[in-house]
Amino acid sequence: MSLELSVVVLAAGMGTRMKSALPKVMHKVAGKPMVGHVIDTAAHMKAAKTMVVVGPDMPDLIKTVAPHPTFEQTDRLGTAHAVLAAKDGLKGLTGNVLVLYADSPLFTAETLARLVAAREENDHAVAVLGFRPKDPTGYGRLVTDQNGNLTAIVEDKECNDAQRQINFCNSGVMCFKAEDMITTLEAIDNANAKGEYYLTDAVEVAQKNSQSCVAVEVDEAETLGVNSRTQLAVAEAILQNRLREAAMSEGATLVDPASVFLSADTKLGRDVIVEPNVVFGPGVTVGDNVVIKAFSHLESCVVGNGADIGPYARLRPGAEIGAGARVGNFVEIKKAVVEDGAKVNHLSYIGDARVGAKANIGAGTITCNYDGFRKQHTDIGAGAFIGSNSSLVAPVEIGDGAIVGAGSTITGKVEADALTLTRAERIEKKGWAAKFREKMRQLTGKK
Ligand code: UD1
Ligand code: MG
Repeated sequence: MSLELSVVVLAAGMGTRMKSALPKVMHKVAGKPMVGHVIDTAAHMKAAKTMVVVGPDMPDLIKTVAPHPTFEQTDRLGTAHAVLAAKDGLKGLTGNVLVLYADSPLFTAETLARLVAAREENDHAVAVLGFRPKDPTGYGRLVTDQNGNLTAIVEDKECNDAQRQINFCNSGVMCFKAEDMITTLEAIDNANAKGEYYLTDAVEVAQKNSQSCVAVEVDEAETLGVNSRTQLAVAEAILQNRLREAAMSEGATLVDPASVFLSADTKLGRDVIVEPNVVFGPGVTVGDNVVIKAFSHLESCVVGNGADIGPYARLRPGAEIGAGARVGNFVEIKKAVVEDGAKVNHLSYIGDARVGAKANIGAGTITCNYDGFRKQHTDIGAGAFIGSNSSLVAPVEIGDGAIVGAGSTITGKVEADALTLTRAERIEKKGWAAKFREKMRQLTGKK
């Protein structure tokens, strides 16, 4: 593949079988809308231009695919009509134009590159990605001649009995010679069973113009199109397995791969150990030699080399965990920097804060970051020690090396190396408990 590549992504369908207010292609797999996967694949192939055909009234979809240009297909008159909605974007292109469906997120860049290379090889007008399903019902059949050239694509509804027996089917992915594409598509009519402009008729048009076409085979597993929530789950499972394999081949240990959920953009370093039942939402980057213990949940956060996370830790967006830091059980960190070697080991909420290097945050410490109106910042200096069950009422600053006594509520600035504590005076009444129990036994008759 050496010529220029452009991509048209068809995303006009609402997907009624999803029974959703969202356009179908906005549903997520591996933490990312399906259309995003297809656009990423195009980017991976270094597409010079990626255009998206959308349906009417899909503002969120347009925002999601920005800055890629979108074209509205107002009436759904068929796949050729959909591609021609992007006619203004197709004008003047050279090389290859790939047509992809936004509801088919599993095609790999390698497979698509194979298709593009096959089209280029003999300067074919069209190259089609075909597959051999167990049940070909519903798919367009690929008709080939003795030399393996593609001579026609016949839609299921138009097949004669012999054609219906063909099990080589159109996956939907097609690659066009850019220079001829508009002329070819404009020659397609809608005189067929569905009364639609079939993109697949491009093969017939090319034949008439004495141009050749070719079919390239792909494994059925890549061709899955999502029309229902059940198929969405199937796509998710396939993508998860790919992501787990990739993470392991890059040097992460997943103790129980099937129970670890990754996002398409999860980055795990070398010698990372991920225990069972860990979820990575979008935007997570983990350094080398990190251990993420069971039942932790991470999203939009960065974990530095050698850090120790969990079990049962929650890292929310904006958490930045430094090298060698520890975040233990039932600790929630949001939009906060926990600097190198700091420890937040038990039962804490740290939000809108900085925890300085090597500081120790005692069990049950809470940063009170929200007054019902504003989020305020807590700054904890390097080497500070926050006693258990303390409330740090933001905005508040604890100096380097300061100690906060257990159970304190801190509302003002604490100087470096100071001790601060807020505590009600302790009282003790000797023998009171024993007397109380005796009185209650007499009163209730209980032993
Ligand atoms: C299409 C192919 C068929 C192939 C099958 C693979 C045609 C004529 N047929 O059939 O050969 O085997 O896909 O799944 O191309 N779309 C629009 N606007 C339209 C029509 C469709 O954007 O006017 C989009 C749909 O949202 C969908 C895709 O194009 O993502 C395919 O359309 P669909 O109606 O599912 O085509 P099939 O009949 O399945
Ligand atoms: Mg379909």
